[in-house]
Order: sequence, then structure tokens, then C-alpha cells
Amino acid sequence: MSVSYAKQVAAEKALGLLRDRLANATRIGVGTGSTVAKIVELIMDDPGLARAMRTARVYASSLATLLMLRRYGVEAYSYTPRGGLDVYFDGADEVAIGDGECMLVKGRGAAMVREKILAYNSRYTVIVVDESKVSSSLGEKGKPVPVEVLEYALEALLDELNALGVRAEVRSGCGCRDGPALTDNSGIVVDTWPWGVVEPSQYEALLDRLPGVVGHGLFIGYADAVVVGRGEGGAAVYS
Ligand code: A5P
Repeated sequence: MSVSYAKQVAAEKALGLLRDRLANATRIGVGTGSTVAKIVELIMDDPGLARAMRTARVYASSLATLLMLRRYGVEAYSYTPRGGLDVYFDGADEVAIGDGECMLVKGRGAAMVREKILAYNSRYTVIVVDESKVSSSLGEKGKPVPVEVLEYALEALLDELNALGVRAEVRSGCGCRDGPALTDNSGIVVDTWPWGVVEPSQYEALLDRLPGVVGHGLFIGYADAVVVGRGEGGAAVYS
């Protein structure tokens, strides 16, 4: 069975988990990526939930998501509302579900800063992944932690991380032009590999205090529930 089947199974399970919250929500946040696209497709195929999406205020974490929602006739907004969200759903690149807080790496799609703002401001956040994204400890998959940085601070950040022994590379190309990948906030994306050098919580603290860092894709303690779809069918919910 394939990753795309596991993603489909995860999306179906997530829909079950989200159904009542979506139906009663006045403010809904939508993440970015192919898993989110699958969940939105399922929601919009369900007449009751499609009506709920068109009635509620919906907040998109990226331009890509905003345009996708518009194609479904959902007039989404591109900011975080006062009072926060009732529910937010998103994917992730890597998930470590241990005894402590759930840890995620996000931002392959460069939307991690807006995603984190929405997740932080949501009363209930669900992360949906296929089993290929699950690790016993973060970093196992070798995925980078993306960091959004202001151009003004770029070289200082690269120096700081290199001095620590953290590999850091400016992500290049966004598919439409050469040069560094930019976020929807016009920040530069730097992919970093702190694994084996700094513990995730220490790395989070470091990035959160470095001037010029707009945000990053390390999410510790942001998920209320994680849905994992399995290639052989079935899905598990961790909360
Ligand atoms: C977007 O910036 C990311 O955080 C995505 O949520 C993440 O890359 C998951 O994407 P897929 O669902 O496409 O794997």
C-alpha cells in the first residue's frame, strides 16, 4: 500500500474527528500541503460540511491554501483573527509522539510561520500525517527544520548556526525563478539540520531569541491531536 493511500486514510479519519467541531465552528483555520488538500476535498464533498465552510470565517495559512479554498467557493482570509480559531487542521513533515509533548517538523511548503500563528491561536489543533512521517525521536527522518529569516540577518544567522555545528543551507528555487526560496511573508527560507547537535527544545529556544529569525518549523506542544494513517489501512489518533 502506498503513502498516498495512507494519506487518504488519515484524511478520512481526521474528517471523523473534525466533523462536529467544523459543523459548529465560526472560525476555521486551514494549513498547507497535500494532506490538507485531501481533507478539504473530503469536506467539500460533504454537503453539510461544505455549507459549514462557506458559512464560517475560514483563515488560510498560505496563498496556495487561500487559492485552493477559493476554487471551492470558500472566501478565505489571510490573517489571524482576534479571538482566535475554533479549530485548525494541518499536515506535518515529521512527527514524534512520545511520552512528553508532541513534537513536529513543518515547513516543507515554507508556510511554517503562518501555520504556527494559526495553531497557537486555535482552541483545537489537529495534525494529520501518513505513517511515513512518524519517528520515535525528532530528526530520525533527516528532514530539515526550516527557518524563515530576514535578508538583513541572513549571513549572521548562517554564521551563528555554523559555529554551533548546525548545517544550514539557504533553500533555493521556488519553481518559478532561480535564487532563494521566499515565504509568503517575503522571508528567506534556510533549511537547518540540528539533529545530533542540539536538542529540539534547546534549538527552539535558540531560534526564538535570534534577531532576524521570523519563525521556524519546529513545533513543540502545538498539537491537540495527531492522526496517523497507515498504508495497510486504518488510522490512529494520538491526543
Ligand atoms: C507546509 O509549510 C508544511 O508545514 C506542510 O504542512 C507539510 O509540508 C506537509 O505537507 P504534505 O501534507 O504535502 O506532506
